[in-house]
Amino acid sequence: MEKKKLYIKTWGCQMNVYDSQKMADVLFPLGYAPVDAPDDADLMILNTCHIREKATEKVFSDLGRLRDIKDARTEEGKKPLIAVAGCVAQAEGDVIMKRAKFVDMVFGPQTYHLLPEMVLQANGGERVINTDFPVESKFDHLPEAAVGSPSAFLSVQEGCDKFCTFCVVPYTRGSEFSRPPEQVIEEAKRLAGQGAKEITLLGQNVNAYHGGDYDLADLIAAVAEIGGIERIRYMTSHPRDMNDRLIGVHRDIPQLMPFLHLPVQSGSDRILERMNRKHTAAEYLDIISKIRKARADIALSSDFIVGFPGETDADHQATMELARQVGYASCYSFKYSPRPGTPGAVMDGMVPDAVKDGRLQELQALLFAQQTRFNENTAGKTMPVLFDRKGQKPGQLLGKTPYMQSVYVDASERLFGEIVDVEIVRAFQNGLSGEIVTTEAALSQKSA
Ligand code: 5AD
Ligand code: SF4
Repeated sequence: MEKKKLYIKTWGCQMNVYDSQKMADVLFPLGYAPVDAPDDADLMILNTCHIREKATEKVFSDLGRLRDIKDARTEEGKKPLIAVAGCVAQAEGDVIMKRAKFVDMVFGPQTYHLLPEMVLQANGGERVINTDFPVESKFDHLPEAAVGSPSAFLSVQEGCDKFCTFCVVPYTRGSEFSRPPEQVIEEAKRLAGQGAKEITLLGQNVNAYHGGDYDLADLIAAVAEIGGIERIRYMTSHPRDMNDRLIGVHRDIPQLMPFLHLPVQSGSDRILERMNRKHTAAEYLDIISKIRKARADIALSSDFIVGFPGETDADHQATMELARQVGYASCYSFKYSPRPGTPGAVMDGMVPDAVKDGRLQELQALLFAQQTRFNENTAGKTMPVLFDRKGQKPGQLLGKTPYMQSVYVDASERLFGEIVDVEIVRAFQNGLSGEIVTTEAALSQKSA
């Protein structure tokens, strides 16, 4: 079969990273092999994210560059295709098709299993737009991953019914859908067979998982039974679905890593209500204290939005206070950006941009200081690190501690994919560096 080059650029969340991998897997049997740059690609896909402002503009600016590449290659007699996938495609597919006539395909996240047909159509000269939500699940049709990774993502749930008033996900990803547990467990076994030691169960609202009789706690317990899986994580959770059973597995299942991303968005009850989060700051703090009782060393992370409509200085200070009380290991924080079609976009009390900037700066100064402190506290300690990426320089590997910190280590490539004891030597805001403690003898014993 003729070899073709596939370029995918991925924006946004882990869900999109997973989806891009799946698109590459679906297209592999058609002869498409991934490349890192668009310049001589036969198919260029932008896998987009719509969660914050200017997403569409960023897509159009990237599309301009791809158009130049397409024009140049068309002059050489080639026919490269340009596609826009992901949540911007889902939300603004029509606009893209109208404004960018050189785009060959636009398709939403629920249609990736149909990609081979769409590519055939596009290669035949048709312009393809597919932004429906088909009733059947895309998960039933996706092929097995072609290559293994020591740290694998496994999508178990999609969509969201929570309708936070700032968020486009319920509109772009549709309503909540959980994959059947048998299917998830089968995929987890396959990933383990391909060398995955760590599995991250993914979903927009992953702790709302309900597949058959299984909730997320059952699913984690089942994945923990699979030989070879030494680490389990899950992302992203909503405080309202953080029930006692799920908190209990943080105590009972050693493979479940001591890290939890639990977005709170704001520390003010008034703003939480306007955001339709359906919990108070005190309820969130109560969940945090229960989790810490179950697993004392748990590292916590959150998303925050500053400058939601109606947010006063006092509301912002409530957010600062909540962050101080929790003490996070790492966080994401954003200025509120109105998304068309969401209730927040038409609320009164829009906060001026300069005020949002000031609040974001103040919050980030606190969160970055917390993150640095958290990392510094691990200096001098020895921790098991899973090497899941190659470093920029030869002879350097990158890995993760149980607490999700990135660690740079000078290490032989032989250790890629292994969990190895590393002594943390230096701590930075964004990561750590360390030295291997496990001796070669201990390692060969381990693999014996
Ligand atoms: N404005 C700013 N941040 C947003 N997020 C989602 N929607 C918006 C928006 N309209 C943030 C939330 C969410 C994260 C994935 O992105 O904090 O948890
Ligand atoms: Fe968006 Fe809220 Fe659903 Fe998260 S829970 S995806 S923020 S609507």
